[in-house]
Amino acid sequence: MKKTAVVWASQTGNTSNAAELIAGEIGKDQLDLFEVSREVVSLLPEYDVVIAGTSTWGMGELPHGWREVVSALDQLDLTGKTVALFGLGDQLAYGAWYVDAMGILYDRFVARGATVVGAWPNDAYEFSSSKALRDGKFVGLALDADNQEHLTKERIRRWVCSIRPYLS
Ligand SMILES: Cc1cc2nc3c(=O)[nH]c(=O)nc-3n(C[C@H](O)[C@H](O)[C@H](O)COP(=O)(O)O)c2cc1C
Repeated sequence: MKKTAVVWASQTGNTSNAAELIAGEIGKDQLDLFEVSREVVSLLPEYDVVIAGTSTWGMGELPHGWREVVSALDQLDLTGKTVALFGLGDQLAYGAWYVDAMGILYDRFVARGATVVGAWPNDAYEFSSSKALRDGKFVGLALDADNQEHLTKERIRRWVCSIRPYLS
C-alpha cells in the first residue's frame, strides 16, 4: 500500500462526510485523514498518493480551508506524486459553476508536477458549466449532497474501485 493521505476542506460538513466515506471505503488504517491546513500542506510531499476533497463556494470559488493554503500549495514539488480529487457542489442552484473548485485544485496540483487520476463521467448530472471538466469528463469524483445524496455512497464505491490500482 502506498502512503496515502485524504485531505479535505468543508464549510458545512458535506465534504468532510464524503472524505470519511472515501476513507472508510479504502480502509481507514491504510491512510491518514486530514482537514487541510498550512501544516498539512507542508506534509503532503511525504505521501505517494494524495486524495484531495473540496466543495465550491461563492460562484465557482474554493472554500475556506483551501483558500488559505493555495500559496503554500503553490510552493510544493509534487513530481512523481499521484493525486485523486473529489468535489462537492450543488448542480441545480449553482449549475454554471458546478464543482468548479475541483477544477481549480486540478490546475494547481498539475502545475506542481502531480499526476491526477480518477476522472469521472459527467452524465447523470444536470449543470450548464463546470471548470472541473477536461476532455468531456470531470477531473475527479463529482458529488452533490444537496440534490443527489442518495447516489453518494454508490458513486464513492465505484470511484474508489477505479483508483484502487494507484493505491497499492
Ligand atoms: C452561498 C453558496 C455558494 C455556493 N456556490 C457553489 C458553486 O459556485 N458551485 C457549486 O457547485 N456549488 C456551490 N454551492 C454548493 C456547495 O458547494 C454544496 O452545498 C456543498 O455540498 C457544500 O459542501 P461543504 O459543506 O463541504 O462546504 C454553494 C452553496 C452556497 C450556500
